[in-house]
Amino acid sequence: MVKLANVFVCQSCGSAHGKWAGRCDACGGWNTLVEEIPEHSPGRKPAKASRGRRGRGIEFSNLQGSSEPLSRLVTGIAEFDRVCGGGIVPGSALLVGGDPGIGKSTLMLQAAAKLALAEKSVIYISGEESIDQVRSRAKRLGLAHAPLQLASETALGPIMDSLKAERPDLVVIDSMQTLWTDALGAAPGTVAQVRACAQDLTRFAKKYGTAVVLIGHVTKDGQIAGPRVVEHMVDGVLHFEGDRAHQFRILRGIKNRFGPTDEIGVFEMGEQGLAEVSNPSSLFLDGCENGTTGSAVFAGMEGTRPVLTEVQALIAPSPLGTPRRAVVGWDSGRLAMVMAVLEARCGISFAGKDVYLNVAGGLKISEPAADLAVAAALVSSAFDQSLPPKTVVFGEIALSGTIRQVSRTAARLKEAHKLGFTHAMIATGENSGNSTTDTQCTIAKTGKLSDLVARFEADRLD
Ligand code: TYD
Ligand code: MG
Repeated sequence: MVKLANVFVCQSCGSAHGKWAGRCDACGGWNTLVEEIPEHSPGRKPAKASRGRRGRGIEFSNLQGSSEPLSRLVTGIAEFDRVCGGGIVPGSALLVGGDPGIGKSTLMLQAAAKLALAEKSVIYISGEESIDQVRSRAKRLGLAHAPLQLASETALGPIMDSLKAERPDLVVIDSMQTLWTDALGAAPGTVAQVRACAQDLTRFAKKYGTAVVLIGHVTKDGQIAGPRVVEHMVDGVLHFEGDRAHQFRILRGIKNRFGPTDEIGVFEMGEQGLAEVSNPSSLFLDGCENGTTGSAVFAGMEGTRPVLTEVQALIAPSPLGTPRRAVVGWDSGRLAMVMAVLEARCGISFAGKDVYLNVAGGLKISEPAADLAVAAALVSSAFDQSLPPKTVVFGEIALSGTIRQVSRTAARLKEAHKLGFTHAMIATGENSGNSTTDTQCTIAKTGKLSDLVARFEADRLD
């Protein structure tokens, strides 16, 4: 019999290599290759022959058939339920990823306990903490009375046996990386183990109608370890993120087969666990002062919800040959673009100047609608002149220097008005319709970026 050589599998992208190398050729990750014993090597138990039934075709159906409307496991934590698309769908598998220590276990323990209190059968299996540790956390969260079934276990075999016997409504596995199955020779936490365990659990979820939540740690570069291989298997991927320096945490939907993916849930980590923040704008605008230069308030959308944040810019003379461009909370490529448009179309030079851009509060903005707010903050800092008080700004900037309309203008203006903003700077042609009167914001429409700069110049001459 030919001896099969061991393979080296990249723990970041899952690609297999014939020999060890310091760097994975496929994804470029350093020190990510780990030796694994292949499935059919001698000395390994042969895998069971597949039991596909021959001679029987499959049945086809059409799109019109009547299906039951989706039921949901509603935790009552509104921020969590919304990100899931209205609650966890029974029989679905969900992956909750995030940096270690960000609060994944806390969030899922709270959600699981809430469901248990709503008379659902819920099992929480921790491979990272002992039962006592989970208990003391539950006590801290004021949820010790919840009828939750706890276990501390990492071996998949016994877990699956118990789950098949219990058939709970929800099972939380904390964390995916601690699970191992003896059907594989690879060490726990390796891609092969994570993949095999996740596959078994998702299959179990579908077959028995139990919702399975897998908690996964994220590697430094923002990927869930062993991740790509799990992401496609599960029905939903939620990412729990935040800044250690700040108390708030954001739950973001990345993938959802049963709902929208652009929703966020905002929480605040406190003494008694995670508290929901139903009005995130007030949190992100906390400490934002009127009349400071280099500051603009952006009315953004996170999913269906408008969220106001402060964009801060600082332009300072640079002692360096190559000036610094430092960005927190926004895309650095997009900042370079806005600066290039300001230079080329409006004659504002950034040569020999350091440029710093910060989205206050630690929120990460990805919308192009923030272009105009970034430009306004930059121009305000360049002219050392503040924007008119109580003004929100949004609009996308084209390379030609024109400002484009963005979606959901009415919702953005409404939120701004709710928080006491009275002026808005938006694109010309923006159809704010009736909302102009609804929101009672005075709207300054700007067609070109040069108009915005001209406005600052005119104010300076006054
Ligand atoms: P945890 O849920 O253990 O993080 P993860 O599972 O993502 O690794 O959260 C750990 C952090 O949360 C820890 O640093 C302490 C903090 N924390 C609080 O501030 N308040 C609380 O009530 C709890 C339970 C945790
Ligand atoms: Mg944890």
